[in-house]
Amino acid sequence: MCGIAGYIGDGVAKDYLINALKRLEYRGYDSAGIAVLEKGKEVRCVKKVGKIKELDESLKDEEWKENVGIAHTRWATHGIPSEKNAHPHFDCAGNIYLVHNGIIENYKILKSMLEKEGHIFRSNTDTEVLAHLIEKYFTDNLEEAVLNALKHVEGAYALVIIAKEDPDKIVVAKKSSPMVLGFAEGETFIASDSSALVGYTDKVIYMDDGEMGVITKDDYRILSIEDSSEIEKKPDTIEMDLSDIQKNGFDYFLLKEIFECPEVIRNSTRGRMILEEGLAKLGGLEVLDQNRLRNIERIIIIACGSASYAGMVGEYMLEEYAGIPVEVELGSEFRYRKPILDENTAVLVVSQSGETADSLASLLEAKRKGALTLGIVNVVGSTIARSTDAGVYNHAGPEIAVASTKAFISQMVVFALVTVYLGRMRDMSVVTGKRILAEISKLPDLVDEVLKENDNIRDLAKKYAGYENFLYLGRKDNCPIAYEGALKIKEISYIHAEGYAGGEMKHGPIAMIDENFPCVFIAPKDSVYDKMRSNMEEVKARNGKIIAITTKGNEELSDIVSDTIHIPKTLEMLTPILACIPLYLFAAYVGIEKGLDVDKPRNLAKSVTVE
Ligand code: M6R
Repeated sequence: MCGIAGYIGDGVAKDYLINALKRLEYRGYDSAGIAVLEKGKEVRCVKKVGKIKELDESLKDEEWKENVGIAHTRWATHGIPSEKNAHPHFDCAGNIYLVHNGIIENYKILKSMLEKEGHIFRSNTDTEVLAHLIEKYFTDNLEEAVLNALKHVEGAYALVIIAKEDPDKIVVAKKSSPMVLGFAEGETFIASDSSALVGYTDKVIYMDDGEMGVITKDDYRILSIEDSSEIEKKPDTIEMDLSDIQKNGFDYFLLKEIFECPEVIRNSTRGRMILEEGLAKLGGLEVLDQNRLRNIERIIIIACGSASYAGMVGEYMLEEYAGIPVEVELGSEFRYRKPILDENTAVLVVSQSGETADSLASLLEAKRKGALTLGIVNVVGSTIARSTDAGVYNHAGPEIAVASTKAFISQMVVFALVTVYLGRMRDMSVVTGKRILAEISKLPDLVDEVLKENDNIRDLAKKYAGYENFLYLGRKDNCPIAYEGALKIKEISYIHAEGYAGGEMKHGPIAMIDENFPCVFIAPKDSVYDKMRSNMEEVKARNGKIIAITTKGNEELSDIVSDTIHIPKTLEMLTPILACIPLYLFAAYVGIEKGLDVDKPRNLAKSVTVE
């Protein structure tokens, strides 16, 4: 949800900034802009509607030697995508330029106050108010002006600011939106997340809420926004490889990330399974008082979108095998409810980005009420990861395609490990623990087997790309996979789809079924297979077309279904991990068949850091 970048150093600012925007483009891609600064000269600022390549192209004819600059890729919240609404925004005097990720909640009040004082606004954004507010307090020192201005600001922000009249520094500030600083010899890089820094430096500082940074070419200071006191922060070293953020021969990140799933499962489970004892070893949970974990009487899983469906898969696993009652709540709902929490309730937040505003707000609410807070988070050092009492990282690596695939798979795998971890503290026998872990360890090879269906699924996608509606059905562990399959085809291919529990079909959706409304059944040979088969008969009786995902060797559906995709046999609780893969390939190839940019679906942003 908006990508921000900044540079100060000996190099050419524009080169890093454009590269950073390209890597951050998944965060927003309706417009982009850059502003660069050289002492004694006017700030040069260019903005373009559309993707980063439009901005990049427009910079080709001029020379860009400046050593200080800021840049932004936008996901519109206030004001349509247009050049005037694109960032950077600037003040009346053309002195202060800034880029912003977040939302200024009290911008209307501030704007009307500043307009009365004579400030002229050019855009419809909430962000522009910040440029004028800083202008109001600016004399000759940028950080002082920013500190004074931020005292009046309510909302969320990651801000990167430059001033023509204080040209040897960049000032940054953070509240509720992510920001990372990267340090190399004679250069400092600023970005929304560390993927932009790969190849430039591995020394980073994650900014915390309420912090401001004053960055010069060779130095930095971190201050408290509240009282201007100095905060001591030393860079951490991060591990990330350039290949993690490149397409590696695939046409789309989406396909690359689906095909990475076997490796992702290996990474998510590496060193975390003691097979011979049937125990999961999760260092992130071992830091807690184990009695507190043992005494958990209820888990509330909080997440949004796909992560909430992973939470539902986790709910089935935890209830069935660890014997713990679980509820799954959407972050956007939980934060406004009056949740009943006690010291034996654990709140477990699931998030790929670790920055989702609704999940984060719910987490903070749960903390305030004294619940034990846990996380299953992919992005290391993200706000949710740092705000929970303990948690487990997914180790799925950077997920660049906007639609979540490999991270979702890793979330389910981590849930399986957490189930064994918590289950073995309770009633789960060593035999059951061993059986689950043995099956988890086979998953990478089983996913590889599913991926061999690639050509078959691509052909199916061609066959079905012309349909305008789909119904996805699943039961028990695979009910959430029906939701996830429907969400993926909506977001990647812009085809209307509904995900339903199989048993719910006769309570309404069956009215829609005819030859133009294909149904995707997730029907492995499991404890509810016969029920799913009956649902198929009902669809067949109404001339509905059926695509079935079922277990290898199950040939008895050939009379009912139009098309079949086979997945290998595994433990029932792990079937969602295999069943998801064909649904991902199907959605991807339907989108590609329709000529869409499946990495960057319209209107979406990778991490939803606003409400
Ligand atoms: O980063 P998070 O996992 O917290 O994001 C949650 C959702 O925004 C995300 O899963 C979203 O639904 C994706 N578009 C799914 O592909």
